[in-house]
Amino acid sequence: MILPITAFGHPILKKRAEDVSKDEPNLKEFVDNMFETMLHASGVGLAAPQVNKSLRIFVVDTQLSIEGEDKSTAFKQAFINPEILDYDGEEEFYNEGCLSVPDIHEDVARPSKVLIRYFDMEGTKHEEWFDGFPARVIQHEYDHLEGKTFVDHLTNLRKIVLKRRLNDISKGAVRTDYKMIFPSQKKNFR
Ligand code: NI
Repeated sequence: MILPITAFGHPILKKRAEDVSKDEPNLKEFVDNMFETMLHASGVGLAAPQVNKSLRIFVVDTQLSIEGEDKSTAFKQAFINPEILDYDGEEEFYNEGCLSVPDIHEDVARPSKVLIRYFDMEGTKHEEWFDGFPARVIQHEYDHLEGKTFVDHLTNLRKIVLKRRLNDISKGAVRTDYKMIFPSQKKNFR
């Protein structure tokens, strides 16, 4: 099932997401829906707060990814209760976008390598270093679980420049090929 995506300004995107418990009901179905929603919206990553659920889950699928990206590191993975343990490498800029912040792309600096601990759908614990594009997507999605978006990484000047467009997104004055939930309609906020 394709789920609607929460828009910038929605309170769930500003809240630290909650741990997934061992007996979380319908977890498999929910994660399948996240993958389906992400694919439908042509995203390479999606975090649970973006589908209006405050849970520490994000999914990544870089297999269909953006042109020009190195396909050799392409992967598809659900990250349950992830924890970033370490960073390495130089800070690099990359022009990021976000399904919750449609039509805005901005250069964001992040370390090129990240060590993350997470559980997969089988409940197996992993501790893995990622680098390059996967490390970029992982850090972007992890931010969503901490109540942050890429906008929080921008300079005050960029935030001022983008202010009106960000307000428009929050008000629903934006066109997307996928359904969105705007801050004024937060009935399902958990
Ligand atoms: Ni995002």
